[in-house]
Amino acid sequence: MKDDETRLLNAAREMLSQAYAPYSGYRVGAAVSGSSGKIYAGCNVENASFSLTCCAERVAVFKAISAGENKIVCAAVVVESGDLVAPCGPCRQVLNEFGEDMTLLLSGADGTVERTPLSKLLPSSFGPRHVLATMKSQHRSQDED
Ligand code: THU
Repeated sequence: MKDDETRLLNAAREMLSQAYAPYSGYRVGAAVSGSSGKIYAGCNVENASFSLTCCAERVAVFKAISAGENKIVCAAVVVESGDLVAPCGPCRQVLNEFGEDMTLLLSGADGTVERTPLSKLLPSSFGPRHVLATMKSQHRSQDED
């Protein structure tokens, strides 16, 4: 494990104590590193209106982007109980928006770490390049009119 990966995992693990999970009792910590090298960490934040719950991964991503990052290089996800978990489907899509080539570090209660590329968990992903390419060609044809 490289030093920067260990730092990212530690930042994710530290967030477990901040998790707001009164309903599920399932605490998740996440941390992402931006292209600046800075680390942004988040925890899951549940809500009495259950569907408004926000996963730890998205909290970390939104902190990074709102701080001025535009690319995420690596993301760590840590759980305090049971097996390691991979991000849920919506979080994979949100992560993909900011780094199709990012690496994920996943760690469970026993501390084992699995490293996997996001592209393996979200193959044939739909991303910014699809929409941006279409929008560019639409603007071109509008300019020609
Ligand atoms: N959760 C996350 O924060 N990240 C995941 O990748 C999976 C699920 C949270 C949402 C909810 O607060 C709790 O775990 C149980 O689903």
